Formats: sequence, structure tokens, C-alpha cells
Amino acid sequence: MSFIQVRDVWQAYGGRSIIERVTLDVSEGEFVSIVGASGCGKSTFLRLLLADERPVRGTITVDGGDVAVEPGRERGVVFQRYSVFPHLTVRENIVAAEGFNTASGWLFGAAKRTSRERADAILARIGLNHVAEQYPASLSGGMQQRLAIGQALTAKPRVLLLDEPFGALDPGTRVQMHDFLTELRAETKMTVFMVSHDLEEAFKLGDRVLVFDKPRWDPQDPGLYGATITYEFDARDGGMPYQHILDRYPSLKPQAEPAPERLLEPA
Ligand SMILES: Nc1ncnc2c1ncn2[C@@H]1O[C@H](COP(=O)(O)OP(=O)(O)OP(=O)(O)O)[C@@H](O)[C@H]1O
Ligand SMILES: [Mg+2]
Repeated sequence: MSFIQVRDVWQAYGGRSIIERVTLDVSEGEFVSIVGASGCGKSTFLRLLLADERPVRGTITVDGGDVAVEPGRERGVVFQRYSVFPHLTVRENIVAAEGFNTASGWLFGAAKRTSRERADAILARIGLNHVAEQYPASLSGGMQQRLAIGQALTAKPRVLLLDEPFGALDPGTRVQMHDFLTELRAETKMTVFMVSHDLEEAFKLGDRVLVFDKPRWDPQDPGLYGATITYEFDARDGGMPYQHILDRYPSLKPQAEPAPERLLEPA
């Protein structure tokens, strides 16, 4: 049985189908990139993997168990609008991330001291130990993003979920973050899901690239059908040509015009 098993998963909100018939097997340690037009349900799929919400149909198991039985702890998550607390120092942000894993949500006494030491080890790992006493506002975008990743890694998750994690960063900082993530992967057996609007990034970092899209389309009722995985690419060589995806999905082009309602005519 594969590490992560997604079987015929459907999700709908208020009678509107968002995701349908998603089936996927992921081995432990794989890096899965997810691309697709805006609004097609990529973030929704990550929330299902996080067990933040339940699918209306289908099952998701992690290591053979129901995804909802082991909430959070095994899964770290980083969203583009990162979740660092502005009123806490860099170190306190890491300690807080750990505190959220305790029953009460807060740590006291000796537990707090060891937590601080662990936080400092993580800060050294992500290269932020020299700014441990500073507040996030005084950090660059790349440093804040590293802090957000540090928070997500605090619980040593087996699965890291990244939702457009590098979208807000300048190209140079982005490449630094790619290297950082690649190093982390080499050291851990983390399984990673990354949603990205940048195809080059998706292929560079991913072992696999999944394309989400609606294969069925009713012009009378655009909300009738949901999106599913319409393409899957082996990206282990890091740079397969993806021009034909760009041709089909203009919204994925760098600096594309604002996306029209419908990006892809049915095949
Ligand atoms: N909790 C919710 N309740 C109702 N509708 C929702 C909810 N969450 C998402 N949606 C709708 O589901 C659809 C898919 O949203 P989702 O955020 O998953 O798309 P996405 O692929 O991540 O888009 P983007 O690339 O813009 O981030 C959208 O039409 C959105 O409005
Ligand atoms: Mg999204």
C-alpha cells in the first residue's frame, strides 16, 4: 500500500462541485507539484490532505490510517500569506508553533526551556539564529518565508504541504528558497505537496507534476462539474519540456493576462 492513498475523492461546496474523482498514490519521500488554473481546487485538495475538511465522497489515507485520525501533527503546512505572528519574536514564533501541538496549546516551565533549545536548533538550521530576538517585520520576505517553513517543520512533519509558498518572493530569493527546500529534502524523508503557479518551479522541484483541470464542462452550468487530475508528468529529470502545457493552460504562463473564466476548451 502506498504511503498516501487518495481514492475517488470528491468535494463540493453548497452543491457546487469543486473536485471530482481524484485518485492518487504517493510514496513516502516523493515531491508532488500541483499546477492548474486559478480556482480549480488546488488549495481545496491540500485542505483535504491536511484533514482540515472532509471530502463529500472518497477516502484519503496516510500510512494506512484515516487522514483525520492523526490531525496536524504529521503534517506541516505553509501558505503563501505566511502565518508568522507579528507580535512574537522569531524564536517565540518557533516555540509557539511547537506549543500548538500540546493539549493546552501552551508550554510551561521545563517543557518551555527544552522547547526553546529545540527552537534555537531549528533557527540555526534555517539560518535565522542571528535574528532570534527580532520581530518578523524587521526580516526580509525570504527570511519571513524561511521562518514560516521553520514553523511548519517544528513538528517534524512527515508530510509538508506548500501552497504557493514562494509566490511573493523576488527571483533571487526564490532560488535560495528552492535550494533550502532541496537541502531539507535530502536530509529528511519528507513527502512534499507544493501548489505553484510557476511551471518551471513545479518541474524543477517536483518528482511529479500533476495538472488539475475540469475534463467535463457544461456551458449552461459551469459549477456542475469539478476538477480532477487531467495530466501527470514525471519530472525527476528536473526539466522536461512543458511548452505544450503552457499552450493548453495560458494562465500558467509567466505574467499571463488576467485569466478568462474558462481557460481550456474540452479536449
Ligand atoms: N470553504 C469554501 N466554501 C465555498 N466555496 C469554496 C470554499 N473554499 C473554496 N471554495 C471555492 O472552491 C473553488 C476552488 O477554490 P481553491 O481555493 O481550492 O482554488 P485554487 O485552485 O487553490 O485557486 P488559486 O490558484 O486561485 O489559489 C473556488 O471557486 C472557491 O471559490
Ligand atoms: Mg489556492
